[in-house]
Amino acid sequence: MTDPVHLDALEAEARGEIERADSIQELREARARYLGRRGSISTRLRSIGQLDPEQRAAAGQAVNAAKQRVELWVQKRQTELEGESQSRSLSERRLDATLPPPRRARGALHPVTRVERDMAEFFSSLGFEIEDGPEVETEYNNFDALNIPADHPSRDLQDTFFVAGGHVLRTHTSPVQIRAMTGREPPFRFIAPGRVYRCDSDGTHSPLFHQIEGFYVDENVTMADLKGVLYAFARHIFGEVELRFRAHYFPFTEPSAEIDFRWGERWLEWGGCGMIHPRVLENCGIDSARYRGFAFGMGIDRVAMDRYGVPSISLLFDGDVRVLEQIR
Ligand code: DAH
Repeated sequence: MTDPVHLDALEAEARGEIERADSIQELREARARYLGRRGSISTRLRSIGQLDPEQRAAAGQAVNAAKQRVELWVQKRQTELEGESQSRSLSERRLDATLPPPRRARGALHPVTRVERDMAEFFSSLGFEIEDGPEVETEYNNFDALNIPADHPSRDLQDTFFVAGGHVLRTHTSPVQIRAMTGREPPFRFIAPGRVYRCDSDGTHSPLFHQIEGFYVDENVTMADLKGVLYAFARHIFGEVELRFRAHYFPFTEPSAEIDFRWGERWLEWGGCGMIHPRVLENCGIDSARYRGFAFGMGIDRVAMDRYGVPSISLLFDGDVRVLEQIR
C-alpha cells in the first residue's frame, strides 16, 4: 500500500496541483486534498499501522519526508501568490505623489499637564517617587487620618463634595500621604500631583483644580530641609525668586507655614507646608519618636496660568479648543 512508486507519483501530482494553484483559495484546497485530515498523504500516514512491523519504520520515514516536501511547496507557492497580489494591488492603485498630504489635526498636552510633568521631573531628579491616589477618597484618608477633626470648617458642606458611603471627592492631595506612608518603613520621599475638588467657583477658584503634594520622612528631617527643597523647587519654576514662610496652622503639620513668593512689589500665596504632625505619622503606623518628616502642598493651576498668560482659571478647564489652541 505504501510502496515508494505510488508515493512518488502522489507527491508529483501534489506538487503539480500546488504549483498550478492560482489563488490562495485554490492553494488551500490543494493542500487539503493531500495534507488535510482526509488528504491522501495523511491517510497513508495513518495506514502505516497496518503494515508488517519490520516495514513500518521505513514507510513512516518515507511518508513523513514526502509530507514535509509537500508542505514546503505549499509555503513557497503561498509566498509567490501573496507577492503577486501585492504587486497587482500596487499597480492598480493610482498614486499622485504631487498631491498635498491630508491635513492632520495635531493634539497638544494641556498646559496644566505640562506644568505638572515639569514639576514631577524636577522632583524625580531629587529622588522623589511619584505616588497616586483616587479622586474619590474615604473621609478617613481625606480628613481623620490627617488629624482634621470632625467639626473642622474644611469639612463643611460648602467646601466638600460628599459622595455616598463615607466618601468625598478629595479636597486636597494630602490623603496620598496616608496611602503612601501606611505600611512603609522610612526613609522615603514622594510627590503626589493630581486633581482635587472643592465646592467653590469664581475667577480664581474652580471646583476642580490641581495640587502637588510632597513629603519626606526620615530620622533627622528638619524644617531646613523643607526650605532647601522648596527654594530649589521655586527656582526651577520661577527662576531666581524670593520666598516667604509665614507661620500658619494646618491640622496635619506642626509647625506649619504658608509659603509666598515675591511678585514685583507683591507677595503671592503659593502653598502650605510644615513638619508632619506626629499623630499623622502614628496613624500610618510610623514611630513618631524615631521618625519625622516634612510635607508641602501647592497649587499647579496658578503656575500654568502664569506661565501661559491665562487670565481666568475656568478658561483652563472649559475645554474650549479655541482657547487651548491659543495657549499652545
Ligand atoms: N492640604 C493643604 C490644602 O489643600 C495644603 C497643604 C498644607 C499640604 C500644608 C501640606 C502641608 O502637605 O504640609 O490646603
